[in-house]
Amino acid sequence: MLTRRKLLTSAGMAAISAPLIACTLAEPAEAANAVATPRQTAGPFYPDEFPADHDADLLQFMDMEAPARGEAVHVSGAVTDAAGEPVSGATIDLWQCDANGVYHHPGDREEGRDAAFQGFGRTETDAQGRYAFRTIRPVPYPGRTPHIHLRVWRDGTSVLTTQFYDADRADLNMADGLYRSMSAAERALVTVPFIENEGEPGTLMTQLDVRLA
Ligand SMILES: [Fe+2]
Repeated sequence: MLTRRKLLTSAGMAAISAPLIACTLAEPAEAANAVATPRQTAGPFYPDEFPADHDADLLQFMDMEAPARGEAVHVSGAVTDAAGEPVSGATIDLWQCDANGVYHHPGDREEGRDAAFQGFGRTETDAQGRYAFRTIRPVPYPGRTPHIHLRVWRDGTSVLTTQFYDADRADLNMADGLYRSMSAAERALVTVPFIENEGEPGTLMTQLDVRLA
């Protein structure tokens, strides 16, 4: 019987003698095994009404001089489809609470709200499926581990709503019911490191990649 291991080994042997053929053979298997970014609830704080300023820079609201409170983060990411191909022209919504744990939404409290934080932003993917935002490192609020909400639209239809989590908050993550409801493979796709941004000292960077089902 030809086992999967033997198949992989023979594919590996083929790679030595005929790399181009091996490459062609390997791609469909990889696509079939890929785990799509898990769906997660939008929660109650997706905007009823978009803020007057809802560009990709959540650190700057309107013409306010004060920047948003919190740790500045440059978010980059790419959207791919089920076959791993880049998705261009997709609309990306990103929203999260401010550094004080308050959503800029009528359903959340006014007290402690950071008026300088934009709270919600929208952008589009480029020809390579890439997008970028500036925002803050997410903070916890009662009942939830830190997270960033993301929604992807294609041709005016919402195709994915998910949340991303901070890899440095494993303790809080595992105490969070929504986080625990995902499989380990799914968690791995939405748990990201926030690392120092050498291009702009004092800020962080992270990568939120999305794979559609
Ligand atoms: Fe949330």
